[in-house]
Amino acid sequence: MYDEEHVRQQCRDAVSAWGEGVAYGSKAFLCRAMARLAHEEGMSIDVATGGELHVVLDSGVPAEAVVMHGNNKSDRELRYALDAGVGRVVVDSFDEIDRLGRLTAGAAAARPPRLLLRVTPGVEAHTHEYIMTGQTDSKFGFGLGSGQAAEAVKRVRELEAAGNVELVGIHSHIGSQIFITASFERAVEAMAVFFRPLGLPELCVGGGLGVPYVTGESAPTMSEWASTVRAACAAYGIDPATRVTAEPGRSIVATAGITLYTVGTIKELPGLRTYVAVDGGMSDNPRPVLYGSGYEAFLPRATDADRELTVTIVGKHCESGDFIVRDASVPSDIRVGDVIATPVTGAYGHSMASNYNKVPRPPVLFLAGGGARTVVRRETFDDLLALET
Ligand code: LLP
Repeated sequence: MYDEEHVRQQCRDAVSAWGEGVAYGSKAFLCRAMARLAHEEGMSIDVATGGELHVVLDSGVPAEAVVMHGNNKSDRELRYALDAGVGRVVVDSFDEIDRLGRLTAGAAAARPPRLLLRVTPGVEAHTHEYIMTGQTDSKFGFGLGSGQAAEAVKRVRELEAAGNVELVGIHSHIGSQIFITASFERAVEAMAVFFRPLGLPELCVGGGLGVPYVTGESAPTMSEWASTVRAACAAYGIDPATRVTAEPGRSIVATAGITLYTVGTIKELPGLRTYVAVDGGMSDNPRPVLYGSGYEAFLPRATDADRELTVTIVGKHCESGDFIVRDASVPSDIRVGDVIATPVTGAYGHSMASNYNKVPRPPVLFLAGGGARTVVRRETFDDLLALET
């Protein structure tokens, strides 16, 4: 369930911190209602695949408001993006430059596609290694240190000279769930040397703003993040006329979302631990298994109750690693049939959900003004057969 007003407020904060057209990193959570909402609030939409592009275009958001990413865009995906007329294509590899050359050769586009070049600034953000992307050893973008970024600019300029494309800026994304804004300062510092002489109008620092998941964590605000980046741009001599922008995903939706489960089984292992099993698991939230991510849990029927019992909340999948919260604090009268809630599950839960063990995915609801609307319906057993021939 999402608090729609909360999502809208996060979008507005992003627009006021970064300016109109700041992109929502839609991989964090995407459905047509979400794409429309972010666009209504003044955001563009960052997509990473042809599939995400398809959902966004089908929502009615104009292609002009889409930023197309991907480290391995196929011909088909690029053709889709170019034909639709997406606002920006973020170029990630030499193969892609060749592909763009072929796909745009002789094309009588009303306006050549506008490109950003993705570079890896060689900065190690303080986050989980699986979601760190700005380091030199990365599958994303062109390395600054290796000279590949400079070579990529040269190759794109050749296409530009032929009128096929227009290079408008440089992009970097150093990682996700970052609490330390100094990581972004380091990225700007590294990029500035490269960016300044190019005379390009745009610099995008990607996404990555962290959110607090568990007690004791705290994160910078959207405006603190933006002002740190802006101050770093000024300090490292980037032309003040540059459009400095970003692509927040998690920070837009994470805290507005909450997942509700029903407790089905409670198993006490004396002297060891208590397992509380719910009607979902790693299929609706794989983050604890993938990254060791922590969450809090509470009972909506007793939100103010002391949570003095420590239990392990697990799902219904056939794996021991299938846990939602390893050491959850819950009220001691927790019982079978209780609804249990895990807050801060609005990002990278539904979007990374699967049908493992043929568990149908739960519905997604938007709550506003005291009412609720279903934006993604519950999957049925028959949906599980829908693709079979
Ligand atoms: N821009 C680019 C190019 C990205 O790759 C990403 C996220 C974003 C923006 C949005 O980043 P955010 O603001 O959400 O941190 N599945 C992982 C997170 C993977 C992030 C991938 N890229 C997780 O659940 O923690």
